[in-house]
Amino acid sequence: MMISFRNFLVVGTGALALAYGLAVVPFGAVKAADGFDVAVDKSGAIRLPKIDFQKDWVALGSWAVAAEEGTVGSEGIHVVYSQRETVAAYRRFGKFPDGAVLVKELFSTQTESMTTGTVSRADKTIGWFVMVKDGKNRFSDHELWGDGWGWAFFDAKDPSQTKTTDYVEDCKGCHVPVEETDWVYVDGYPVLKGK
Ligand code: HEC
Repeated sequence: MMISFRNFLVVGTGALALAYGLAVVPFGAVKAADGFDVAVDKSGAIRLPKIDFQKDWVALGSWAVAAEEGTVGSEGIHVVYSQRETVAAYRRFGKFPDGAVLVKELFSTQTESMTTGTVSRADKTIGWFVMVKDGKNRFSDHELWGDGWGWAFFDAKDPSQTKTTDYVEDCKGCHVPVEETDWVYVDGYPVLKGK
């Protein structure tokens, strides 16, 4: 009697765990993006994500800024990273999930003649632009938050806190051309479209 009761308990718990697992992660579901854990504190202050994003996140794409007329190559290279969960969610739902983080890393360049031609490569890191997707309007009174995102810039010389004071003045104007794609220059990130 006792043994079968125990067995029942074990089987019962297993079934419960299975049911719970299915409820939490339905088939084909994508994991939540962890932006509020790695890049935001409770008051809404944004920090450079506490993560080795060059190694652990996905490089979504890069931008080469042409040098001034009369000089060859690119004077700047921008590389944009995000979490794997963001890519998975975007491919599935066609939009950025709550907690998505976009980091745009700015590099100075070196341009030289190589066997492939005249080539510019990333040299020193100048700073990082960071956007954090807030699908719940958590910080409506905060000047770094609005239009569905938190917005901040970090200078490589002092990355401990943001230099951004007001996203409307510091960021929004330049992102108006891509308002329709949630303020993001998605054309530069083919990985979001999938295969
Ligand atoms: C001078 C115009 C300009 C300003 C000011 C500006 N951005 Fe951008 N931003 C762009 C352009 C254009 C791109 C894509 C092409 C590039 O990087 O050259 C971009 C790309 C980004 C990206 C990569 C994701 C995307 O949208 O494609 C992030 C993150 C970003 N900006 C954040 C910010 C934040 C945060 C601020 C304010 C602190 C800001 N930007 C201010 C023009 C600007």
